[in-house]
Amino acid sequence: MDRTAPTLYDLAGGASAMQALVNVFYDKVQQNKVLRPLFPDDFDDVKKRQYMFLTQFFGGPPLFSQTYGAPMMRARHMKAAIAPRHAKEWLACMSESLQEVGIQGPLFDVMMDRFTKAGYQMVNHTDEGAPLVAPQAAITGHLPQFRRNREDGDEPR
Ligand code: HEM
Repeated sequence: MDRTAPTLYDLAGGASAMQALVNVFYDKVQQNKVLRPLFPDDFDDVKKRQYMFLTQFFGGPPLFSQTYGAPMMRARHMKAAIAPRHAKEWLACMSESLQEVGIQGPLFDVMMDRFTKAGYQMVNHTDEGAPLVAPQAAITGHLPQFRRNREDGDEPR
């Protein structure tokens, strides 16, 4: 096995790219009418945690686990009522953010695929507000192929 193969973290541009992505992304979340109510007034803490998490999620140093322990992301998201419509907006913001920080082509596709799979794991409510206790994607049938641009046919809201 080639242990020197670059990680997605490396290919994306390492620490500075993760930081730029987090900044651009949460600026969008902050402006997003669907997502904004889920988040606290102050984004500093979630930005710091997300920077640490994404670093390890894409193969960089395990910053999140070193500080906060096991990621358990679905469990950590249970404090928010997340429905498919939230996941869709979250992923749309992330898709735009990746492109804005210059991540494109196959790297974009691979990173977006990972975000899409992880994103729908966080869904814990239906769009109608009913709690989901079991494998949410199977129940809701919401595991769409995420398209690169909203114009490609994804319904924005
Ligand atoms: C797809 C829909 C998603 C929604 C609506 C969502 C929303 C949220 C919310 C509301 C919080 C809590 C903020 C707070 O009160 O502190 C949070 C935290 C967080 N999210 Fe997400 N999230 C989503 C997906 C993801 C994905 C895909 C990832 C990673 C790939 C992620 C990584 C994180 C991290 C690292 C935290 C901080 C967790 C902690 O340490 O407590 N989220 N998210």
